[in-house]
Amino acid sequence: MTEPYRWTMRATRRYDYEIVETTNLFDPGNPELGRQPDGSGNGGGTRLVVMDETVEEIYGQRIRHYFTRTGTAVEYLTLPGGDAHKTFEQVLRVASRLTAIGTNRRGTPPIAIGGGVVQDVVGMAASLYRRGIPYVRVPTTLLCQIDGSVSAKTGVNYEGCRNRLGTFAPPPLTLIDRGLIASVPARQVRSGLGEALKMALIKDSSLFGLLEEYGPVLVAERLQDSGPDTRALRPGRTVMHRAIAGMAEELQKNLWETDLKRIVDYGHTFSPLVEMSARPELCHGEAVTMDCVFSAVLAHHRGRLRLRDLERIVDTVRRIGLAPSHPMFGDPTVMRQALADTMRHRDNHQYLTLLTGIGRTEFVDDVTEAEINDAARVMAALDRDPHIPLADVCASHHVGMAA
Ligand SMILES: NC(=O)c1ccc[n+]([C@@H]2O[C@H](COP(=O)([O-])OP(=O)(O)OC[C@H]3O[C@@H](n4cnc5c(N)ncnc54)[C@H](O)[C@@H]3O)[C@@H](O)[C@H]2O)c1
Ligand SMILES: [Zn+2]
Repeated sequence: MTEPYRWTMRATRRYDYEIVETTNLFDPGNPELGRQPDGSGNGGGTRLVVMDETVEEIYGQRIRHYFTRTGTAVEYLTLPGGDAHKTFEQVLRVASRLTAIGTNRRGTPPIAIGGGVVQDVVGMAASLYRRGIPYVRVPTTLLCQIDGSVSAKTGVNYEGCRNRLGTFAPPPLTLIDRGLIASVPARQVRSGLGEALKMALIKDSSLFGLLEEYGPVLVAERLQDSGPDTRALRPGRTVMHRAIAGMAEELQKNLWETDLKRIVDYGHTFSPLVEMSARPELCHGEAVTMDCVFSAVLAHHRGRLRLRDLERIVDTVRRIGLAPSHPMFGDPTVMRQALADTMRHRDNHQYLTLLTGIGRTEFVDDVTEAEINDAARVMAALDRDPHIPLADVCASHHVGMAA
């Protein structure tokens, strides 16, 4: 047998992408929305504008007016929000319209205006169409502005699994207008603050301080800083900036997730299973928040997180108006299954991020079934009574750590 002959190919592709915060995005005087993103050619031709259904109802007229006034050739497609619509069929609908209007490889990047669902669907379609074209992302929910806006990922739910099909394909331009959050329902704003809370817990104690102090105000004012107490201090603006900056810093280190140990996965270990199966349905940030609490209980029981910090976390969750627990988090069988499912996504490692304080983390790979059962017991108690004193339910666990 002769020795095999090998050719080794080596190439790198540089990705630069911009996240721009602006105001009055749909005002024809603001050029950002119609701007051709860097590297996407000189335009000419029709661009597809995909809108979330609710966004179309609220802002459709202004968006259409914008493109008419600025003389940009566009066609429109409206898609439903909500995770039930994050499907491959919706991706094909987008692809079909891109084909119909003759979208080019670079010069006519589509524009996606909507929450995480529309972004994930359009992003995936753009990454598949002609093997990948640029697009512009305009996130319209808080969750998507602070979390999805920085992400390189697209995806759809498939065969009962969250984000089972998807791609890595960051768009060259993301445009954020915090003013759009003014119309987002309170429940969705709270869900978005759940992701901000995650970011605060893993790396930003100042952000946690803002959520702790201003939680209810942030929800009431939809982060618009419109009240007498917030006009000067602008906690809404700071919360958004710190959350985006934290996310950008973390993702930049490991954008393609070649390292499966990611602190930004905090809150995303036990929640995916719950999020897919809870009825009535939970929003993404609601499930993430409960996972943050569950993981904080695990850390406290290990003697790594002080009781006082656990109490502050649960108090802040309640003050934002989020539920700290849910019957599925109180069910040890579900939690063990959830961990097993997530481990398959992490090459059979737990790589679990646990807190050692607010804004400080460690990775662990040795959480036992007994620990999961124990944390589930606390979650069941919290679900029955969200105000139950944690010192009582965690009483048997003060493993040599000062409160
Ligand atoms: N790709 C990523 O990295 C990434 C990151 C975070 C979340 N996600 C995904 O995003 C999804 C959740 O995103 P979401 O919470 O934005 O959900 P969503 O897109 O379903 O939007 C939530 C609801 O808000 C409505 N809406 C959107 N903008 C509005 C506005 N300005 N005013 C009033 N209503 C508005 C929508 O119609 C929808 O009913 C999940 O599927 C999650 O997996 C992806
Ligand atoms: Zn998330």
